[in-house]
Amino acid sequence: MKDPFLALVAQQNEKGYSVAAEELHPSDLNRDAEVLVEIAYSSLNYKDALALTAKGKIIRRFPMVLGIDLAGTVLESSSDEFKPGQRVLAVGQGLGETEWGGYAQFQRVRANALVRIPDPLSAEEAMRVGTAGFTAMLCVLALERNHVEPSDREIVVTGAAGGVGSIAVHLLARRGFKPAASTGRVQLEEYLRSLGATSIVPRDELAKKGGAMQSERWAGGVDTVGGQTLANVFAQTAYGGAVACCGMAGGHELDTTVWPLILRNVSLLGVCSINTPKPQRIEAWSEIARTVDRDILGAISRTEPLSKIAELAEDILSGRVRGRVVIDVNG
Ligand SMILES: NC(=O)c1ccc[n+]([C@@H]2O[C@H](COP(=O)([O-])OP(=O)(O)OC[C@H]3O[C@@H](n4cnc5c(N)ncnc54)[C@H](OP(=O)(O)O)[C@@H]3O)[C@@H](O)[C@H]2O)c1
Repeated sequence: MKDPFLALVAQQNEKGYSVAAEELHPSDLNRDAEVLVEIAYSSLNYKDALALTAKGKIIRRFPMVLGIDLAGTVLESSSDEFKPGQRVLAVGQGLGETEWGGYAQFQRVRANALVRIPDPLSAEEAMRVGTAGFTAMLCVLALERNHVEPSDREIVVTGAAGGVGSIAVHLLARRGFKPAASTGRVQLEEYLRSLGATSIVPRDELAKKGGAMQSERWAGGVDTVGGQTLANVFAQTAYGGAVACCGMAGGHELDTTVWPLILRNVSLLGVCSINTPKPQRIEAWSEIARTVDRDILGAISRTEPLSKIAELAEDILSGRVRGRVVIDVNG
């Protein structure tokens, strides 16, 4: 193991905190965490960008190594669950918030936070998925558990050109659904259709104020936007449908009524990826590995060095990132 090694660390100061690359030593890492991981890749999620730019209250203690995702190889383990040489990943589970995260060349991680990278995915592919794609899978599984089945009626995905949205469109298409991609970037139609979108819905169409019950349009939805967009998707979902709500890229408020719930049997499903219990995490990752087309996963993502993270964080917060960004922690 390298000593010292590089990590991106947030340090508290009088103004709040600042983030910079620092040299850390193995003895700096959390001895209570059972597994030492040599990290190959992390990723950039909306939440990482909020932490990097201090625009959201993500970090719960200082100093903090940022990065809510990581993938790499086990170097040492005092847990029976993991052996040196195994390929592992972690998404959420407090990384980058309460526990040191993935923007580092090495990290000690609690065994409970880790899962094996399922074949045939590589560490880089696991991070192409990352928290965003894992959340997309949780949304799809939530819809399926609520008896939303493939049919001629479309499932609308909002914020479709973003990380969660792109992977949700792709996963839905691969599982036989017809995903309608709602986007503010209609110029990305070709990209979204290549992921499996059956139609493109301009963002404005779902963002304007609408009635509490509207014409039945969707079999369900995966919503990453929140606010009026979610209220409209909920009001347009057909009898017996469901909407999985996981994001707030457009707003955290929700102005709606009980009508779709009690007159159309529509379910509003909350999805949180951070504290997903281990059995559900293992199930979701195995479904991801089974469902994704790895070539399309490649087309959804690009890999960038950790040295570019500040610029990339501004881009994702301004909605300029298409799909997913993998972070090479050695770059
Ligand atoms: N619940 C969870 O566990 C969980 C996990 C991961 C992410 N999230 C949340 O899900 C959301 C999306 O995350 P992400 O990683 O996919 O981020 P992202 O890559 O930045 O994607 C967000 C997308 O939302 C759309 N958008 C941005 N600003 C908007 C606005 N003002 N109004 C309407 N649409 C807007 C854009 O898509 P178009 O260009 O296509 O319009 C953008 O690409 C975030 O709120 C994030 O915090 C939640």
